[in-house]
Amino acid sequence: MPIDSLGELELHNKNNNPRHIAIIMDGNGRWAQKRFMPRAVGHQAGVRAVRKIVEYCIKQKIEVLTLFAFSSENWRRPEPEVSLLMALFMASLQREINKLDRNNIRLRFVGDRTAFPEKLQQKMTDGELQTKDNTALTIVVAANYGGHWDICQAINKVTNKILTGELHNQQINEELIGQHLSTADLPEPDLFIRTGGEQRISNFMLWQLAYTEMYFTTTLWPDFDQNSLEDAIKSFKSRQRRFGHTSEQVLNKSVNL
Ligand code: IPE
Ligand code: IPE
Ligand code: MG
Repeated sequence: MPIDSLGELELHNKNNNPRHIAIIMDGNGRWAQKRFMPRAVGHQAGVRAVRKIVEYCIKQKIEVLTLFAFSSENWRRPEPEVSLLMALFMASLQREINKLDRNNIRLRFVGDRTAFPEKLQQKMTDGELQTKDNTALTIVVAANYGGHWDICQAINKVTNKILTGELHNQQINEELIGQHLSTADLPEPDLFIRTGGEQRISNFMLWQLAYTEMYFTTTLWPDFDQNSLEDAIKSFKSRQRRFGHTSEQVLNKSVNL
């Protein structure tokens, strides 16, 4: 960790805020259907909800916000919905990248982007390059992402390094696998939120969520606002994270978590 971010880390530890929040933004379709509107309207409302959450994360000095935007399984949806989601993704990037940059936000994508249209891939790379040195908040958009995919691509990278002699197979351990995941340079999520009422992981960051605190809410994503996020963070702060230790060990501060 660079020396200059130590002060910032102390601040995080002091207010016990999560450093990394990862969200499955679910419920757009049902939000629209409840209003007798097409699912597309729900997805549009979902994009609007993201903005307020980003503002709140900056205010609260959250370091990383990961948003599950499109899963590797979402290709199974009807073609018009998939096309609409792609168009919305492209339009949002076109509209927001400069704004994110002006607000000192770093944008990152995880997932298999090779399946996306060429133009969209270009926009994603441009957005990452333009914002790469920003420091206020890192937004990780998980697009065509799956936890299985992430672990597979890590294994592929490791295997290639073994084949070229850069690594020896005896060096394979948890740390090494972690270093080859798409989120290798980021802290692991402290708080996981899923809106929309389902209580499942849906192939989201399977490896990374090993010790994440889970928070499920029935609020549909377009209705999830700053107060909702505050409730989730409040719940997070009320929990004791033990990482396998006993409660007494944690209370006595005899262990480093
Ligand atoms: C989440 O909302 C957005 C994406 C998966 C892209 P849904 O579209 O899954 O909404 P519901 O679950 O059908 O209400
Ligand atoms: C998970 O939501 C993916 C995203 C929010 C992008 P889904 O709505 O696709 O999940 P399932 O299929 O109900 O598990
Ligand atoms: Mg859903």
